[in-house]
Amino acid sequence: MITENVNLAGRSYPIFIGDNAFGFMACQMRDTAKSRRLVCVADSAVCAAYPDRVRELSQLMPIIEIPAGEKSKSVEMFGQLCSKLAALGIDRKSALLAMGGGVIGDLAGFVAAAYMRGIDFYQIPTTLLAMVDSSVGGKTAVNIPEGKNLVGAFHQPKGVFMDTEFLGTLPKREFAAGMAELIKCSLINDAEFFGELESLETPLCAGHPFLSKALAKACAMKARVVSADECETASSGGRALLNLGHTFGHAVEKCAGYGNVLHGEAVSQGIVMCMMYSRRLGLISDAEIGRVESLLEKNSLPIRPSCPLDAAAMLDSMFHDKKTRSGKLRLVLLRGIGKAFEQDGDPDLARKTIDEFIGR
Ligand code: NAD
Ligand code: GLY
Repeated sequence: MITENVNLAGRSYPIFIGDNAFGFMACQMRDTAKSRRLVCVADSAVCAAYPDRVRELSQLMPIIEIPAGEKSKSVEMFGQLCSKLAALGIDRKSALLAMGGGVIGDLAGFVAAAYMRGIDFYQIPTTLLAMVDSSVGGKTAVNIPEGKNLVGAFHQPKGVFMDTEFLGTLPKREFAAGMAELIKCSLINDAEFFGELESLETPLCAGHPFLSKALAKACAMKARVVSADECETASSGGRALLNLGHTFGHAVEKCAGYGNVLHGEAVSQGIVMCMMYSRRLGLISDAEIGRVESLLEKNSLPIRPSCPLDAAAMLDSMFHDKKTRSGKLRLVLLRGIGKAFEQDGDPDLARKTIDEFIGR
């Protein structure tokens, strides 16, 4: 098992990565359960796929199953969960475990942030996206009709148990979506990691010998960024760099209609657009763009529009992105592979870039 750490002074925590992380977690919780009440909030599809693990956990704590899917990340579900915790006698000294993908991690994490003004929680991510991104860094949220993740809090977990065996049942399309975030990590500031992904004979998949190392590299990168700028307040070059491909990507997601394109598939298209924009500024070569596109394609990710897109609507939605500052576009761009930076965006260039992408 590999261990990485998120260093945040008194709120630092470990990330355990490997094919036995669940067993290790169960062992730790067996001890913890002797002195504190525990509760697990779990994705219903994960519970159905892993009955033995659920049985093992249920000997230590009650398990609250949440219907799979983004719809569960709602204010209503947040309220229902808080009521269930109260009914179970969960108190300030108790701890909550979130077992599932980003939906469960974000929802249960937000409940842990708010219930009794904050209780401890642990992440047990079961999707690749949750492993490389959402389970680390303490962003928690629910959606409201006005937008995704608009209500939330920063609340760091006490530990993350990343068991790669879960990925064996993850649908291929969901695995590929997680790969977009993993490739994104390498593009931000780790050209060597990008080279390693590029040189793999077979692309990453469940059971791949490089999988745990790749997760560790992505988590180490995220941990460094989060340790330096936990609440995304740096004026430039901080946690916002993790949004590489996300401003263009969110516009794709919104125009495609939420649910029609997976977040990672939109991020893949967003990365391509951010490279096209960077090329217009003379910052990145055709050869580098070619290398990134070929890695995305090799990992079953789209590098062309995966559905009809409306350029004007996309640009408009980019101005309503959470990252917009004082009405100005804010973009993460690339000076090359492993060299991401932030700058204000030019709406004309952004429009030309979207047109170029749509015209592919
Ligand atoms: P998800 O949680 O909806 O999981 C995707 C699908 O996979 C679901 O149908 C789920 O039931 C299923 N699933 C989960 N684990 C499985 C397994 N091991 N085997 C088989 N099926 C499994 O989606 P996601 O992609 O993990 O996360 C997306 C969410 O994460 C979004 O709500 C997004 O806003 C959020 N997010 C948060 C952060 C953050 O920093 N907090 C970062 C990125 C994304
Ligand atoms: N997913 C982006 C972040 O954690 O900041």
